[in-house]
Amino acid sequence: MTERETWATRLGFILAAVGSAVGLGNIWQFPFKTGTNGGAAFVFVYLLAALLIGLPAILGEFVVGRRANINAVEAFERLKHPAWTVVGALGLLTGLWILSYYSVVGGWVIRYIFGSATGAYFGDAAGYFASVSAGWEAIGLHAVFMAVTAGIVAFGVEDGIEKATKLMVPSIVVMLVGLAIYAFTLDGSTAAYSYYLSPDFEYLANNLGSVVPFAVSQAFFSLSLGMGAMITYASYLGDDDSLPADGSLVVVLNTAVGLLAGLVVIPLLFVQFGGVPDAAAGGGAGALFVSVAQVFADLGTAGQALGAVFFAVVLIAALSSAISLLEVVTSYVVDNYGYSRPATAFGFAGSLFVLGTLAAWNTAWLTWFDTLAYSVLLPLSVLLGVVFVGWVYGPQAVDEIKKGTSGGETFATAWLWSIRTYVLVGVFVTLYLGVTDIYA
Ligand code: PFF
Ligand code: NA
Repeated sequence: MTERETWATRLGFILAAVGSAVGLGNIWQFPFKTGTNGGAAFVFVYLLAALLIGLPAILGEFVVGRRANINAVEAFERLKHPAWTVVGALGLLTGLWILSYYSVVGGWVIRYIFGSATGAYFGDAAGYFASVSAGWEAIGLHAVFMAVTAGIVAFGVEDGIEKATKLMVPSIVVMLVGLAIYAFTLDGSTAAYSYYLSPDFEYLANNLGSVVPFAVSQAFFSLSLGMGAMITYASYLGDDDSLPADGSLVVVLNTAVGLLAGLVVIPLLFVQFGGVPDAAAGGGAGALFVSVAQVFADLGTAGQALGAVFFAVVLIAALSSAISLLEVVTSYVVDNYGYSRPATAFGFAGSLFVLGTLAAWNTAWLTWFDTLAYSVLLPLSVLLGVVFVGWVYGPQAVDEIKKGTSGGETFATAWLWSIRTYVLVGVFVTLYLGVTDIYA
């Protein structure tokens, strides 16, 4: 085995972590889950979850990764708690499961780059989504997305991806801000802002059992938690870096991109449909595609170019997340079983392609894949990680948090307290509600 590298600069780590975090979870999922879970009530719980649970949890993964200095599966052995390897393994499986359908949505994005360039959806945005989101074409583009992901992981165009990521976040923010302002100027968008930003607490009280688990799991998904990704990335981190500073930055940037995407999609849905329509009419998985597609259609020829650029940037965001999922398992297998990197990356990608064809064939399957990830796999994986870091590894974890952090003592103590108490309870409740919701 070659000697392990570390990130050349702090920025390198932040970019990789942000690249993994910012993706379809923010731009595609967050707006439509907000729309299907009561609007601002969901946003409210999500914000609390990202800050109060997501941040402590991401720090827990950073601790394990930097301390162990090895991939997510072997990390627990390295920390002398081999029984907890099950956490790493579960994370790996969760990541693979998610990648199988994440790639299907990545395929839709590819479709929309071309659909924009040619103006293919300009006549009927909702009908177009219905016709390209499932079936043979979706399967073909799912294959393309998976192959590109595997190609990057196999042959490492890291340079390219790092440069692309550096540009990605600023371009996404600029484009989303532009679209949000445009949506604001359109007739009919006004009602969207109270729906999106002013929580209906009565709705929340009546739907706690579904809003809470979806919002908390959305925070996990969005922060790339429970899948070994953050453990793996932090394993390349040097000791002089402040974990709390880096973690806070990732949480803030990731949350901001999600909120911004909602400020685009929700008002546009109100403009077109007078509210958030039900899933079949374009309010579910199609929300992003149908709503912004209509904007580009209205802009005519200029919309063709703008749309192609917009979806190309979304594609970069999706790819930088997908490669982090595939990298976790690839680095583990290459390190331990001596297979070549290309064979490993394409082997896993091929198998996940096959699994994902179900989700590409039919959006009901895609929803089911997503539900299993949200309701069971993610909260379970995060819960086990939190128990480990808080109760098994606690004191050493505190040392790790303090490193490179000025005045870190108080923060580290508060962090451990949070992980041991309310974070643990919160994740447990999320898992419990998620599982009971599935069987409801
Ligand atoms: N965080 C990514 C998103 O919000 O799109 C999805 C993701 C990437 C989840 C990588 C997990 C992961 F390991
Ligand atoms: Na995200």
